[in-house]
Amino acid sequence: MENLEKAEDYYDKFSRFYDILSPDWYYRKPREFAVRVMELEEGQNILNLPVGTGQNFEYFQQYLKGSGKIVGVDLSGGMLQKARQKINANKWNNISLFKDDATKINEDWVRDHLGEGVKFDAILCDLGLSGFPEWRNVIDNLLPLLRPGGRFVIMDWYIEQPGLRAEFIKWIGGGEVDRPLYQYLAERVEDFQLNDSFKGGDVFVAWGDKVKRL
Ligand SMILES: C[S@@+](CC[C@H](N)C(=O)[O-])C[C@H]1O[C@@H](n2cnc3c(N)ncnc32)[C@H](O)[C@@H]1O
Repeated sequence: MENLEKAEDYYDKFSRFYDILSPDWYYRKPREFAVRVMELEEGQNILNLPVGTGQNFEYFQQYLKGSGKIVGVDLSGGMLQKARQKINANKWNNISLFKDDATKINEDWVRDHLGEGVKFDAILCDLGLSGFPEWRNVIDNLLPLLRPGGRFVIMDWYIEQPGLRAEFIKWIGGGEVDRPLYQYLAERVEDFQLNDSFKGGDVFVAWGDKVKRL
């Protein structure tokens, strides 16, 4: 709990500078790619966890064109405030934001916050799992939230032998870059795929589909 409060406090402060220190152009290629492999269609229902300052919104809207529903969850009220500013500036009305801890997002949470029987067509976890506690549980809790065959996408860092760059990323964003995120995903989805060509091989996009019988 104490760690969660520390994280919230840290990201609330970071939120003021996030779009400057982590500008859109820096992750444009992997973000574009991650959203492309979500294979979104108009009217679909998607979850972005953590939503941060909403840097993905413009990419999602290229496919959704203001239709469907984008659900964004983040621990930090400061980050969500920045996301809300983007929503208001663009007059988007298909986005709902929730302040919560990633480890709480499960089927009960969806029923209580979004309604009985709601399922997502796609889920994007970008630059989040590398910083979440209990990241394996987060993936396990999220997969059942997809409709059968729905798509799970991760965009994050993976550096097997962390060096100076890893220290910098940890310092700036609080992420652990050596977590085997995509290796874990590979065991839990169908048709797992990986593109680890971003940022000199240090940033990857991995995706796969919810196993039909889940
Ligand atoms: C590096 S930012 C990534 C934000 C966004 N996905 C992006 O790519 O710009 C990490 C985000 O994770 C959020 N976060 C950290 N711990 C969290 C937790 N336990 N539950 C939900 N969000 C959390 C932070 O508030 C922050 O917005």
